[in-house]
Amino acid sequence: MLIQGLLVTSLVLSGAPAAGAKARVDCAKVTCLALTFDDGPGPRTGALLDVLKRERVHATFFLMGKHVEQLPKVVRRTMAEGHAIGNHTYSHPSLPTLLDQEIIDEIRLTQDAIQEVTGRRPRMFRPPYGNTDDRVLRLAGSQDLSQVLWTGTTLDWKLRDPARIKAAVLRLAKPNGVILMHDTVPQTVQAMPEILKELKKRGYHLVTVPTLLGGRTPDAGVSFP
Ligand code: NI
Repeated sequence: MLIQGLLVTSLVLSGAPAAGAKARVDCAKVTCLALTFDDGPGPRTGALLDVLKRERVHATFFLMGKHVEQLPKVVRRTMAEGHAIGNHTYSHPSLPTLLDQEIIDEIRLTQDAIQEVTGRRPRMFRPPYGNTDDRVLRLAGSQDLSQVLWTGTTLDWKLRDPARIKAAVLRLAKPNGVILMHDTVPQTVQAMPEILKELKKRGYHLVTVPTLLGGRTPDAGVSFP
């Protein structure tokens, strides 16, 4: 009884939709922010999914194909729990340095790995290191992918400190923003409960990139934001 009471209270305070996963956030009407996590899945992704589930928050995960092959169950869970999934190449190279066919292979192997595990081919792609150019964008488009970059990067992989990662997210947060983090950085996962609490307190609805765009993915060959 007491636990139930606390749960209801925390939901009201956090402003989370009471109807659960089916409640649709309209980012034209409320203040939205998209949290994105690159390079996974990894050993800490399950713990991150636990936190997101508890807080009823949806995020976007840009996965590496070779990690998908190692942790298929985590990828299936990510999709089942309502998060959006994008392609972050197979082995994380800097794409502009590669030949056309190498770029296509990096993208396609990852599309295949994700489809094998989830039954669906991603529509979004994020280039490693954010290194991209017109050629990379065109080749991604040829694989039916949009390019999703970010409005703020936490540099969590360099900070490696929960308090500093939290401070970076709060500094970078802005309406309709896209924040880049890594679920492969343990301190990011560690900081997440506090980050979510504070962002909600500031009125943000934490959504996937497609939800941020009104329920659709950006068109293939288009770069966002
Ligand atoms: Ni990356």
